[in-house]
Amino acid sequence: MKLINDFEEILVNDEQIQEACERLAVQITKDYAEADCPLFLGLLKGCHPFMSDFLCLVDLYHTVDYMDVSSYFGDNKSTGEVKILKDITTSVTDKDVIIVEDIVESGRTIKKVKDLLLFRGAKSVEVVTMIDKPSGRTVDLDPKYVGHTIGDGFLIGYGLDYKEMYRNVRAIGTPKKEILD
Ligand code: IMP
Ligand code: MG
Repeated sequence: MKLINDFEEILVNDEQIQEACERLAVQITKDYAEADCPLFLGLLKGCHPFMSDFLCLVDLYHTVDYMDVSSYFGDNKSTGEVKILKDITTSVTDKDVIIVEDIVESGRTIKKVKDLLLFRGAKSVEVVTMIDKPSGRTVDLDPKYVGHTIGDGFLIGYGLDYKEMYRNVRAIGTPKKEILD
């Protein structure tokens, strides 16, 4: 795959992605065994590869919905602003909701979504993310279910984009400097 040549360093490889999907699916299947049809809420567009791989391994009756909440706007720096571009189409009243994310950095995006869901009457709201980048946290919100924790730096791959590209690569890593402008 030629896209992989644009990576400087791979931090999470295909095998480690698979291991995290299996581990998180087993844990969540166990934790929600008594829940009444939880809702998995994917945050577009980054949730896409993780959500489909991970949900195939979750052995629970559940429903799925999506929101598009943007704070990056295609660049490699956060604007600090969080906008709802697409809202959910189903009710969350009395629902156990699990937000599915590619990465949690500042935490502003999931904090905003979590507060909104609780305001709308969700019974519980937890977060599952493939990548946690706690060094970038600016709000008091830690995801309960984490695939891999990594340090500083801008990442691409497996949902994480640079200018909407590289989301489909089944590896997560840093981009080569020459592809960034
Ligand atoms: P937060 O609100 O700062 O936690 O960031 C949330 C969103 O910013 C994520 O869902 C990603 O879409 C995007 N984001 C954060 N860090 C990165 C990165 O390293 N690469 C690409 N996108 C990122
Ligand atoms: Mg995202």
